[in-house]
Amino acid sequence: MRSPRVDVVLGLQWGDEGKGKVVDALAGSYPVVARFQGGPNAGHTLYYQGKKVVLHQVPSGIFHEGVYCVIGNGVVLDPEVLLREVEGLQALGIDPKEKLIVGKRAHLILPIHRWLEEVSAEGEKIGTTRRGIGPAYADRYARRGIPVAWIDEADFAQRVEALFTYHAARFPSEKPPTLSETFWKGIELLRSLPRVELTEWLLQFEAVLAEGSQGTMLDIFAGTYPYVTSSHTTVAGVIAGLSVPPQSIREVYGVIKAYTTRVGEGPFPTEVFGSEAEWLQTRGNERGSTTGRLRRCGWLDLVALQYAIQLNGVTHLALTKADVLCGLPQVKVRVGGSDTAPIYETLPGWQSLNDPAFEHFVRFIEGFVGVPVRGISTGPSREDWYERLPKAPKSLG
Ligand code: IMP
Repeated sequence: MRSPRVDVVLGLQWGDEGKGKVVDALAGSYPVVARFQGGPNAGHTLYYQGKKVVLHQVPSGIFHEGVYCVIGNGVVLDPEVLLREVEGLQALGIDPKEKLIVGKRAHLILPIHRWLEEVSAEGEKIGTTRRGIGPAYADRYARRGIPVAWIDEADFAQRVEALFTYHAARFPSEKPPTLSETFWKGIELLRSLPRVELTEWLLQFEAVLAEGSQGTMLDIFAGTYPYVTSSHTTVAGVIAGLSVPPQSIREVYGVIKAYTTRVGEGPFPTEVFGSEAEWLQTRGNERGSTTGRLRRCGWLDLVALQYAIQLNGVTHLALTKADVLCGLPQVKVRVGGSDTAPIYETLPGWQSLNDPAFEHFVRFIEGFVGVPVRGISTGPSREDWYERLPKAPKSLG
C-alpha cells in the first residue's frame, strides 16, 4: 500500500516537555510537518534569530525553508488566533501563507466556544486554558460543529449564527459574544490557504513529521481523566488526525523533561511543594506559555513514563531541560509504589551536562524503560541540542 512514512514527536508527560524544540531540530529532514490534534491551548516555544516565538496554531516547522506546515484534521482551529500568529510571523520576515496547508476536516473554534468556557463552571474545575478547546470538540462529537470545509458554503454564516443561538440559549442571563471583524478576517485568511483532503494530499510526499501537542497524560482516553484535554494526544491521534493508515507510522520520538510539570488540576504523584517547587519554577521558568500560569513541578515519574512509552510504541526518547537541574546534590526519580505513595530512587546530581553523573541519570532512564535517549536539549535556543549515540540499555544486555 502506498502511504507516506510518518514519524511522530509527542509528549510523554503532561505537556510542556519541549516538543516544539525537538520538532524544530528534526523538521529540516522532512518535507511536511503536521499538527494532528489540539488547538491554541498549545504554546510551542521556539527561538528564532535570538527572538522568542510562541506558536499556538502554526506547526513548529515554520522556520524551515521548503517545509509544508499542515494543520491536520484532528485540530480545532481558531481563525482569530491563526490570523494573529500569521501576522506575527510576517513581522519577523516569514510568510507562513506560502507554507500553510489546512486539513478540510479540522473544526473551527468560534468565539462562542471561548465564551462557553467563561460562563460555565466546567472548565474551571479542570483548570483549562480557556481557549474554547473542550466546547469545540464537544460540538464536533455532538455533530453540530463547523468543519473548515464549510467556510465555502453559501450558508456558512447562518450555520455559525445557529450555533451561537443554540449555546446562548443555555445561559440566558449572560451576554453572548458577537462575530467581530477579526473573526471574519481570520475566515478570509483561511479562505486564502489551501484546504485539502489530507489522505490524498499527503500521498505526494515520502515522509511526514507529526507534531503532538500537550502530552500523553492529558489524552482524553489514556490520561488522568477528567483532568485531561479533549483530544488524542497519543499516537492514536496521529492516524485519525492526519487521516493516514496505521502502517505509515514509523519512528515515535517521545519527549520528556528531566523532571515533571503540570498546569491545571489533577493527580500528580511526584509533585513537590514549597521551596523545592519554587526552585524548579524559577530555574526552569515554569510558567505556562499560553496562560502565564505557574506550572506545578515534581520529580521525573518513570512509572508514568513506562506507561506512556508502552501506549505510544515509543522508539526513541528526547530529553529536555536536564540543564535546569545542574547544581543539585541529588535528584530523585519515581521507580514504583502507588500514585499516593510513590517510591523513589535517589541519584547523584550533576554540575554540568558533561558530568558523568548526568550520563548515569540518562542510562538509568534507559535501563528502566528500555528505550534509548537519542536527543538531548541543553538550553533554550535552537543550537542547544545534541544527538547522542544510543548505547544498549542495561536491561536489554
Ligand atoms: P484545555 O486543553 O484548555 O481544555 O485544558 C485541559 C487541561 O489540559 C488543563 O489542565 C490544561 O492546563 C491542560 N493543557 C492544555 N494544553 C496544554 C499545554 O499545551 N501544556 C500543558 N497543559 C495543557
